[in-house]
Amino acid sequence: MKRNRKQMTETPLAGAVVGALLAALGGCTQPPIPDSEAGEDDRTTPTAAKLFALVNEADPYLDWAQFPDVQGTVPSTAPHGPMARIFINALVEESLDDFDGALLDGAIIVKENLGESTSEKADALTIMWKVSGFDPENNDWFWANITPDGEVNAEGKIEGCINCHTAARANDFIFLHEF
Ligand code: HEC
Repeated sequence: MKRNRKQMTETPLAGAVVGALLAALGGCTQPPIPDSEAGEDDRTTPTAAKLFALVNEADPYLDWAQFPDVQGTVPSTAPHGPMARIFINALVEESLDDFDGALLDGAIIVKENLGESTSEKADALTIMWKVSGFDPENNDWFWANITPDGEVNAEGKIEGCINCHTAARANDFIFLHEF
């Protein structure tokens, strides 16, 4: 009885070791998990709602820098005008001295569209958000027009934004600061 019991305890253990070895070997032959699945985050499916939360809560745009040559409140033109304040996140700042034709993935530019009286709340926030793979034909910009209260007027591959900003395509669709 004693011997039998010992065998019974050894056998499943040996089986488990062999099983673990086989699993480990099998694991080695598995293809690596593609980055898109491994590092899934909010930007895999960008939405204006996520963008709004990002620039107001996670990384408030009012704490960001501005383009060195577009400081404070500046005159603006239709459909944006008549005044505007433009903020750039840290990833845009990184490209100020080192631009190779496109801003970095995750770059965000927030433009407060202001009326004549700049003390009043913005009419809208028009935002450009660089999301790798989102729209390769147009430099992967996600466009949004959102009210300061978070109401989404338009979002995504907005034709109006793209058709006009394409005039600045060589400068990654940005008009006001030349990289
Ligand atoms: C008819 C042309 C036109 C349309 C449409 C347009 N823009 Fe612009 N946008 C401009 C011009 C010109 C500037 C720079 C001068 C200014 O502020 O008026 C600008 C500036 C900006 C900036 C600041 C960065 C830069 O390029 O200088 C952002 C951000 C922006 N626009 C976002 C948007 C979004 C988002 C939309 C669509 C919802 C949009 N724009 C639609 C012409 C346009």
